[in-house]
Amino acid sequence: MARPFRPDRPHGEAERGPISFTLAHLSDLHVTPIRVRRFSDLANKRVLGWLSWRRKRRHEHRGEILEALLQDLDGTAPDHVAVTGDLTNVGLAEEIAEAVPWLERLGGPEHVSIVPGNHDAYAAPVGADRFAQWAPYFSPKQASSTPEGEDGLVFPYLRRVGPLALIGLCSAVPTAPGLAVGRLGAGQLDRLGTLLAETRDTAACRVVLIHHPPVPAGQSGRRRLEDAGALRETLARHGAELVLHGHTHRTSFEQVDGPERPIPVVGVPSSSAFGHDPERRARYHLYRFEDDGTGFRVHCAVRVLDRERLVFESGPEHRL
Ligand SMILES: [Fe+2]
Repeated sequence: MARPFRPDRPHGEAERGPISFTLAHLSDLHVTPIRVRRFSDLANKRVLGWLSWRRKRRHEHRGEILEALLQDLDGTAPDHVAVTGDLTNVGLAEEIAEAVPWLERLGGPEHVSIVPGNHDAYAAPVGADRFAQWAPYFSPKQASSTPEGEDGLVFPYLRRVGPLALIGLCSAVPTAPGLAVGRLGAGQLDRLGTLLAETRDTAACRVVLIHHPPVPAGQSGRRRLEDAGALRETLARHGAELVLHGHTHRTSFEQVDGPERPIPVVGVPSSSAFGHDPERRARYHLYRFEDDGTGFRVHCAVRVLDRERLVFESGPEHRL
């Protein structure tokens, strides 16, 4: 589980020693079983999602892997955990509620930040308050000038955790059957620009969290982020130090343009998948941010599921 970060000094006072902070990145957990209580629960695209879960998804995303994940996080003890969406299967209100006790086991709102995925919105109708029970995991830990947009969403949020400025985006929108696209919208992109500009000249390391990748990442058009180009333009104008996403169920290391240097964009596969295809086997990424006063160095260690022993073990390591 995440442990509280207690720096011996406020960030930015480099003369008092180096800083090191760890962040675990999890995604696409699909932790909630679908319990159908009303016919109307499945009277739309959700009937297809329910069939897919019955046939496939419930055998892929397994409770015992989630337990192994929690156990491994107990050992690696990151300072904070980021979850980039798809906690549920078809985004029923009951699933949103059932994810909360699991998030509490993961560490609670002080130690966990989340953004929703397409499975969490899934099908209309959904209101602006659709993720109200997850709000503590979105709540800013530091006030920003962009608390809520005209669309009623709190996104993007800014949470200051240790030396990081975590900026969470919501790309989750209800879609037609056969589609898993995402969309941010002009309002959210505007507010993202403001937040990135506000945090640019602080000592914080800006980490953007989003479910859909801002790059094609080998995906079909049916799964893309529709306004990825506008997001890349915003990032190119204002910069960020790192972008983390899920949705593709594969590890990927890419880059997008920044104002001074390229911005690393890293995707993590599902952290709960049994993974008949080895590339899709459950993984999570453990980042270490180090700053000796001259700028952040970011190290990413992959933790990967051993399917025989049902434990996570060390995988490849990357310096970003
Ligand atoms: Fe997704």
